[in-house]
Amino acid sequence: MDAIKVEGGAPLHGTIHVEGAKNSALKLMAATIMAPGVYHLTRVPDISDVRIMRKVLETLGASVVYEGAHELRIDTNDVDKWVTPYELVTQMRASISVLGPLLVRFGRAVVAMPGGCNIGARSIDQHLAGLEALGVTTSNKHGDISAKVGDGMVGATVELDFPSVGATENVMMASTVAKGTTRIVNVAREPEIVDLADMLIEMGAHISGAGTPVIEVEGVDPSELHACDHETVGDRIEAGTFIVAGALCADELTVTGFDPDHLGVPLRKMELMGVELERGEDSVTVRRASSLRATDVQTLPYPGFPTDMQAQFMTLESQAQGTSFITENVFENRFMLAAELARMGADIRIEDRHALVSGPTPLTGAPVKSPDLRGGAALVIAGLIADGVTYVSGTRHIKRGYERFVEKLRSVGAKCEHVDIPDPESEE
Ligand code: EPZ
Repeated sequence: MDAIKVEGGAPLHGTIHVEGAKNSALKLMAATIMAPGVYHLTRVPDISDVRIMRKVLETLGASVVYEGAHELRIDTNDVDKWVTPYELVTQMRASISVLGPLLVRFGRAVVAMPGGCNIGARSIDQHLAGLEALGVTTSNKHGDISAKVGDGMVGATVELDFPSVGATENVMMASTVAKGTTRIVNVAREPEIVDLADMLIEMGAHISGAGTPVIEVEGVDPSELHACDHETVGDRIEAGTFIVAGALCADELTVTGFDPDHLGVPLRKMELMGVELERGEDSVTVRRASSLRATDVQTLPYPGFPTDMQAQFMTLESQAQGTSFITENVFENRFMLAAELARMGADIRIEDRHALVSGPTPLTGAPVKSPDLRGGAALVIAGLIADGVTYVSGTRHIKRGYERFVEKLRSVGAKCEHVDIPDPESEE
């Protein structure tokens, strides 16, 4: 079984360039369904989630070809299916992002209901309520969501219960061809939403307000939408992950290829903890702190502290002087890292949506399991500062969202490598 072996104690020094954002690229790929044509997406990360979305598009009839390491040529002229298979949606819930695009292209869609995942139920009620406000009828049969636009979508005011990233994206994409004006209120404001809106505008959609709490869309005739080329925004979460590693064990680490303004709260929190950061146009340079002060964190929709940085901060806070409260407001079950970190010596108590982290606790290497994508990365970071050797299994989670994670860390001095270890859960 593949695992990442990490030997603690090696200082990091050098530069890591991050990829385009996973949580944008997947939606940019889905958007290519909306209008037939040949699209070139650049800075697309080479990760397993992108390869699954590629399979989804190919299942629908598109051709998706890598032209160079991070460039996709996507031809959707021959897309002729509107049914997305269950086995692909269960592998990656972001497949639900094809729902809006299929309604634009065909006026109907059948998308398997995404299952929950280990961080929470991850329902899609907000997606469906938003689409229904535009006149879409939906039904849930045998685990499939079937959606139809009837005589066509009509612009409306759509008020989301809370700023769901996925619901904002699906409703924004669908509303591009709804007759009249659509106002989507209480939308997600993440940089990835702005990136998607930028691409939709390049495709001929009339969208304003992306990045603010209200997005306004003037519907156009579907024939006015066309293919385009687009560069994916830099991955702020990949960048933040490496910056946390640097805060713990870098002599000097520069992370480039993203906009530091997209990580405002986490960077400020690190400075409050005593971490030295230098911000550049598209980079941050970090040096490990001589000592860290505990600070409370609560995850919130953007521009609040991102839930996708919560696990990495749990590792960081375990080395801080004092007690910190980490409150997870976005997902209902995103503290599974705590039990694995505790095996390495961390002192963390979970009470519902709060994790109480007391430190600093010296960590020792141990065999641990990635609970999810970000938890896996946080365990590798813990291994970088642990005394001894840590084996992080469940690397498939990490490969979903981090391209060449081990190689990038090794390039700046980390002692880590992919190894094959016996599967502790396999039958004897
Ligand atoms: C996106 O998920 C990201 N994934 C997540 O990143 C990220 O954590 C999340 O946004 C929040 O920023 C992708 O973009 C592929 P939501 P999404 O809709 O769209 C509940 C990572 O590690 N909810 O904002 O699913 C939901 O269950 C991943 O890269 C409803 O109840 O996030 C969750 O508790 C993890 N009903 C919360 O809202 C709905 O209709 C946030 O969901 C939709 C969501």
